[in-house]
Amino acid sequence: MSDFFTAAVDKTDPLIGDALAGELHRQQTQIELIASENIVSRAVLDALGHPMTNKTLEGYPGNRFHGGGELVDVCDYVNAQPHSGTQANQAVFFATVKPGDPILSLDLAAGGHLSHGAAPNQSGRWFDAHHYGVDRDSGLIDYDEVERIAAEVRPALLITGGSAYPRVIDFARMRRIADVVGALLLVDMAHFAGLVAAGAHPSPLPHADIVTCTTTKTMRGPRGGLILSRDSTWAKQLQSAIFPGVQGSLHSQIIAAKAVCLGEALQDDFKTYGRQVVENARCLAQILSDQGIKLVSGGTDTHIVLLDFSSMALTGQQVQDSLARINLTSNKNPIPFDSTRPSEWAGLRLGVAAATTRGLGPADFELLGKVIARAIARCAVADDAGVEADRQQVLALCRRFPIYP
Ligand SMILES: Cc1ncc(COP(=O)(O)O)c(C=O)c1O
Repeated sequence: MSDFFTAAVDKTDPLIGDALAGELHRQQTQIELIASENIVSRAVLDALGHPMTNKTLEGYPGNRFHGGGELVDVCDYVNAQPHSGTQANQAVFFATVKPGDPILSLDLAAGGHLSHGAAPNQSGRWFDAHHYGVDRDSGLIDYDEVERIAAEVRPALLITGGSAYPRVIDFARMRRIADVVGALLLVDMAHFAGLVAAGAHPSPLPHADIVTCTTTKTMRGPRGGLILSRDSTWAKQLQSAIFPGVQGSLHSQIIAAKAVCLGEALQDDFKTYGRQVVENARCLAQILSDQGIKLVSGGTDTHIVLLDFSSMALTGQQVQDSLARINLTSNKNPIPFDSTRPSEWAGLRLGVAAATTRGLGPADFELLGKVIARAIARCAVADDAGVEADRQQVLALCRRFPIYP
């Protein structure tokens, strides 16, 4: 017990210590291209590892169930308590709809998210979930179809936003559709929240009744969620939906880390970062397209580039594995109208937010685009030539743009 407050984890628990050290090494030596990931600042890590984790608090500032919260409650009003993006969405459902109510959201294969009423998720079981998709040719949300389905099912909640939709959504059109059928509009900006904060993407806030997001991904903060509303009439219901509705005590140290990342997002540097993310993604999309790889929607307006292998007889899993061999981390993904079986998905989702944080610019993404195209070509002919040379190119990028020295 003598070193309980001083001994580091590698001393007290070598198994976990080794796993943590290994994970740091992995991040340092691989380029992260998973669109939902990023690399947080030292300041965010400081908050996450702070003894504030010891503090138990329930309720809200000024009305806590426990004492000793005066250093946690230093912010003005914001509901920063959701433990995750999923729980933020759950709380919105809890506040706005009843079990069995019709809801309408973007289809999973078209880029939607599980927590928006997908069949295996609680939201898909408890609500009468309907989905709209994208146009087969353009890959863009088919707003006429949204309007038609909305008129038919008259959703209590219309939801937009998702995990793999690479284009700007027409929030104003969604608002008009919601108004015609008397639905509330929820925009889940989990993926593009950081771009909105940086001014590099239109904001859904003027159009939506409620906006949810995660503080990970482009926000570049800790794991967790936020709920925002332009309309204070929802504040009370949303407050009680998070607590006592779907959560208990808060994660104080994570809320401190959220505050750090939101503070970072107010800096001019973050605006530059947001613009760079969009430019890098466009550059990567262009290079891949030039190399003959098909992209869903033909390109991107965000940090996401979604590759479509349906005409190449390749699966996303094969390409994910091929990229992993050259130290590029990515994830297989469904493309619109894809199989429901993950092993058959014909897509791969790439995101540039984390590598942009490392400092990679358009020239580096041009190089990465070519490396990725070669890995896909190798995969198509099951040929190993060039793997080591490409891996060395990626490692050289990792050395040029180090993280957590
Ligand atoms: C659009 C969207 N909403 C919600 C979530 C869920 O966030 P979490 O993993 O924090 O529950 C995600 C995560 O990928 C997402 O992409």
